[in-house]
Amino acid sequence: MSPIMSRASVLIAPALALAVASGAWAPCPRTCRADDAPAVDLVVKAGSPAGEISPILNGVFFEDINFAADGGLYPERVKNGSFEFDDPMMGWRRPALVAGGAVGGFGVVGDRPIHPNNPHFLRARLERAGAGLPLTNEGFRGIGVTKDAAFTFSVRGRSEPEKAGAMALVVQLVAADGRPIAAAQRLEGFTRDWKAYSCEVISTATDPRAKLTITVQGAGTLDLDMVSLFPRDTFNGRPGGLRPDLARLLKDLKPGFVRFPGGCIVEGRTLAQRYQWKTTIGDRAERRLIMNRWNVEFSPPRNAPDYYESMGLGFLEYFQLCEDIGAKPLPVLNCGMACQFNLAELVPAEDLDPYIQDALDLIEFANGPATTTWGARRAALGHPGPFGLTMIGIGNEQWGPQYIARYERFARAIKAKYPEILLVSGAGPGPADGPGDDRFSSAWDALRKLNADLVDEHFYMPPDWFYSQVHRYDGYDRKGPKVFAGEFASHVRDKRPAFGANTWEAALSEAALMTGLERNGDVVRLASYAPLFAHVEAWQWNPNLIWYDNLRSMGTPSYYVQKLFGVNRGTTILPVRLDDAAEKLYACASLDARTGQVVLKIVNARPGPRDVHIRLEGVSSVRPTGEAQVLAAPDLNAVNTLDDPTRVSPAIGPAEGLSADFHRAVPGYSLTVLRIGTNDKR
Ligand code: AHR
Repeated sequence: MSPIMSRASVLIAPALALAVASGAWAPCPRTCRADDAPAVDLVVKAGSPAGEISPILNGVFFEDINFAADGGLYPERVKNGSFEFDDPMMGWRRPALVAGGAVGGFGVVGDRPIHPNNPHFLRARLERAGAGLPLTNEGFRGIGVTKDAAFTFSVRGRSEPEKAGAMALVVQLVAADGRPIAAAQRLEGFTRDWKAYSCEVISTATDPRAKLTITVQGAGTLDLDMVSLFPRDTFNGRPGGLRPDLARLLKDLKPGFVRFPGGCIVEGRTLAQRYQWKTTIGDRAERRLIMNRWNVEFSPPRNAPDYYESMGLGFLEYFQLCEDIGAKPLPVLNCGMACQFNLAELVPAEDLDPYIQDALDLIEFANGPATTTWGARRAALGHPGPFGLTMIGIGNEQWGPQYIARYERFARAIKAKYPEILLVSGAGPGPADGPGDDRFSSAWDALRKLNADLVDEHFYMPPDWFYSQVHRYDGYDRKGPKVFAGEFASHVRDKRPAFGANTWEAALSEAALMTGLERNGDVVRLASYAPLFAHVEAWQWNPNLIWYDNLRSMGTPSYYVQKLFGVNRGTTILPVRLDDAAEKLYACASLDARTGQVVLKIVNARPGPRDVHIRLEGVSSVRPTGEAQVLAAPDLNAVNTLDDPTRVSPAIGPAEGLSADFHRAVPGYSLTVLRIGTNDKR
């Protein structure tokens, strides 16, 4: 039976007993006054637990869209440091005139590269040394530096003639206005063979749009590749690690899982452009850069000609991130289908085996002992222990019989070798069938017959749809495949620039739907907002959960909704009953076995405060003081910005006057989380 109880209630609201301060919304969890409407009765059936909530219900979905990897979470400051973009000098600028008498030039060539996956590099040839030939990198919409921040500049180089001091490279960080903002560093001693060179660069100023100039000095040839300026300050101090503020925002969500690396980028516009995990691990100079499909997906100005995937953030780093933030990894692999919105290229059935092998090898890479081929590879990369992979996505939002046929082949092979691994399968791009379109129901029908583990549903829909779907999962078959609400976001009609589409209106409707996800936490096992990250000057998709520029970052109102659900995830579903007066009021409750608390979440989608009469059934005694976390804003258009990043963010404080039968005024347009301590042993 569904954990939601019948909607009708015979309870009669008693007189209000509210802690009243002012009628206006205030960010204090205790001081709001209900409007004149009668109290809404809310019963929590604390004595009738109705199933376990997935311990990893709320997670995150990382896709390299909106410059989420290069230019975002992966904090490399040099764009196109490997000279592998289709325009091989993109990101680099040569002065029209070179002062100082040098005669020579730059070219991108490919004889004897570092590795076949990285076939091009920069060749500087100087006939006359003069003062050298400079080249400037613009970074990702500039290079973000803060005063006193330390960076490692590194490069692979080789030279002719091989003579100590014949060729040198001078490294200089400059501000947007061209002023030097670090002591110049000189690298020399280049030899005939590729070698790595590095030096430290310390910024003397803060500038979100600094640039990096490298100047080749000497008469002769200097080959350069993998030019890098990498911050020393990374998340968890990992060398070559992640941008700390962004990774911290992720960790603060307490995500149960991380789905990576996409999304449509897994599929590719063509199969040749699909994501292939094996070319994303190991020495960064040996990883294969590909064009990011969001480079060309949209028309100007939302295209991004300089959007590529360096794979600096590769599969080892994704697994490591999961470990660092305590989340389960959920990698998604191409299933032999390119994006069905683009060319819908298909791998013929007889050529599918290498794709399946990639999946089997990935499981071995993540979990296998160091005595296995791929387990040994993981160990050699510095992680001897397993990553604890328990699930894997087969394709992204695929649909149709071609998908089902391919999914079956993957499922058969994976389950034969790794029966414990859960498989996530697609159900198409929408949450329901449309006119003349049965992609959703036909996927579900087929996957049900195949006893699929988890079916991935995607919903990018308007706020009204979110409210209409609060009970979506109440009637789902408890014995069938489980649900992964893998990509969702409420889309307000007006796609205002940058974070402007991340309104409180959108977030509040997501909160309402999420009460339905948690209340059905026995069947909805995983849920994640999408997309996750966006650079304010380089985005393609809107809205997104977290926005940033080169130095700052912020969570949207939707971020704080995710956070309140993530950090307050209970362990057991407690049914709730709301009376008929509960129009636009939504709730779910759980028991948190770790703390013994009842966790109650209430969404008030009306403008005025509401008096909620809360009864905890089946609880003998309640501690009078608990905790309230309230996310509210009087204006549905409210947004967070980089200048005002916490305008819509939770107010946290004690919740007083709690008992097994009490009143709580919830503010207009709010999400309230009450953590209620009981004295019962469970
Ligand atoms: O989240 C953006 C895109 O939306 C994802 O790549 C895709 O899965 C969906 O269509």
